[in-house]
Amino acid sequence: MTQPDTATISTSALDVTAPATTHAELATARPVTAKHAMVVTAQHLATQVGVDILKRGGNAVDATVAVGYALAVVHPCCGNIGGGGFMVLHLAPSENQGMDKGEDKGLANGMDKGKTVFLDFREKAPLKATPTLFQDAEGNVVKGRSTDTYLGVGVPGTVMGLNTALQTYGTMSRKEVMAPAIKLARDGFVLTQGDINILHTRSQDFAKYPNVAAIFLNHGKPYEVGDRLVQPQLAHTLEQIAKDGSRAFYHGSIAQAVVKTSEKNGGLLSLKDFADYTVQWDKPITCGYHGYTVLSAPPPSSGGTTICQILQIIQPYPMGQWGYGSVNTLHTLVEAERRAFADRNTYLGDPAFVNNPIDELLSPKHIAKMRATIQPGKATPSSEIKGSLGPAEGQHTTHFSIVDAQGNAVSITFTINYLFGLGQIAGNTGFFLNNEMDDFTAKPGVPNSFGLVQGRINQIEPGKRPLSSMSPTIVLKDGKLFMVTGSPGGSTIISTTLESILNVVDFGMNMQQAVDAPRVHHQWYPDVVLVEPGLLTPATKSTLEKMGYAFKEVESWGADEAILVDQKTGLLDGANDRRRPAGLAAGY
Ligand code: GLY
Repeated sequence: MTQPDTATISTSALDVTAPATTHAELATARPVTAKHAMVVTAQHLATQVGVDILKRGGNAVDATVAVGYALAVVHPCCGNIGGGGFMVLHLAPSENQGMDKGEDKGLANGMDKGKTVFLDFREKAPLKATPTLFQDAEGNVVKGRSTDTYLGVGVPGTVMGLNTALQTYGTMSRKEVMAPAIKLARDGFVLTQGDINILHTRSQDFAKYPNVAAIFLNHGKPYEVGDRLVQPQLAHTLEQIAKDGSRAFYHGSIAQAVVKTSEKNGGLLSLKDFADYTVQWDKPITCGYHGYTVLSAPPPSSGGTTICQILQIIQPYPMGQWGYGSVNTLHTLVEAERRAFADRNTYLGDPAFVNNPIDELLSPKHIAKMRATIQPGKATPSSEIKGSLGPAEGQHTTHFSIVDAQGNAVSITFTINYLFGLGQIAGNTGFFLNNEMDDFTAKPGVPNSFGLVQGRINQIEPGKRPLSSMSPTIVLKDGKLFMVTGSPGGSTIISTTLESILNVVDFGMNMQQAVDAPRVHHQWYPDVVLVEPGLLTPATKSTLEKMGYAFKEVESWGADEAILVDQKTGLLDGANDRRRPAGLAAGY
């Protein structure tokens, strides 16, 4: 792959909506604790929907589906039915009850108890898409084509993903779990400062489209705290899905409305794209770290593979002894990230189209080779790092975590790519469409909006899923549930999720501290270390700069919504990331 001259990470893509934590706030940060069950989401009303479902006897999957649809209403930047995502589900061991209804269906048989399964409901490229879709006649990538036009819209997967999860593992009916979302859309909900922060990021774009302005502006003006956001069109769409299931979305009037608008605006989506859409069950990527088992997303996500590579590279180093934010910790972590992202961007893509060499990427031999290239006391320029297996074969997002009273756990991340995705709504459907096609390689060596410089393996092909960084993750200790974690934030999802684990396992933080602590991120290209304010002391920064590191401070990124199980008491510690003030951890 050619190396880029320049690459940037757009801070708008990083979804900056609230500042990171100060040291004083971090010292006193405490999680919310509950005895039986816990829900943590980026919007408090969605959290409440999940808790209500669990209290009524629903299991973690019932609550997940209810929360997923509720987030489409109360967190429209990111929660969605116009995008796609991934779910990691850990099924409680057999002594626990509560997953019985699904036992005679599909994967949900007794054999699944104690297992962890993965559901891929990532968007797919339209059948008419081509590798050079975002290039002009001279082969140059046309700025904005993948993010601001209907060519950037992938076939949405969320509706089939949520409905499939419910049908396979749920105990409640679709109508029951969707009722709260429909009510929130029809009656509206009162906007808090956290909601307003997010809405205001794209108020100017809302004004461009009358059907968007009619919903997301208040008589042409941005909404303010205390206003009520009512979404009757979305309520109608959700009612159709509640009644007719995925058919309503993929074969009925909803697909027709999206295709019609796409065609009118030069897009590629067809009714066949919707009719052909499928979701996929798979096994999570698994690795060990200091006696813990990490289970995360396999391709078409890069998340699990990259997190596991980084963990394996850093495992022999005494990170805990070195301490959070120390020179040695940051040097080791950044160098591991640099190398793992080089592999990510070179070797990973949709497994339906390409061969992902996961076993080799995670083999002890390969990891040892990567580790051996880390130079003590010195940054390795990214130009000296290549995908290390040899030539390859060829924000926006939201995360939530749920644990139910039986110990079933769901880690789910879903996205429309940018905040509010394409920023456009097809006709009267009421939901934002994604611009997920930007996650593909528009041209090898040319960065996407997250600054990721990717290879041919992730080139656009008809029906292919773009490589993602979404990393819904579950951590077990001695086979028992330990942590549920994940985040939005494009490429930074990987480091954010990873750091939430390190902060607990290596640095002894509680769950709230672990998600609030200032973050660090490196992704091979651009060759710059992103840091949140408060991570680096002046002395640490100066030492690392002398070692060859360049830093870019970004106000904040990501929103890790996580749950930790106290291994002694069994109590659940929930932590809403303080970067999402609208969010909430709540349980009972
Ligand atoms: N759209 C961001 C991701 O899936 O990585």
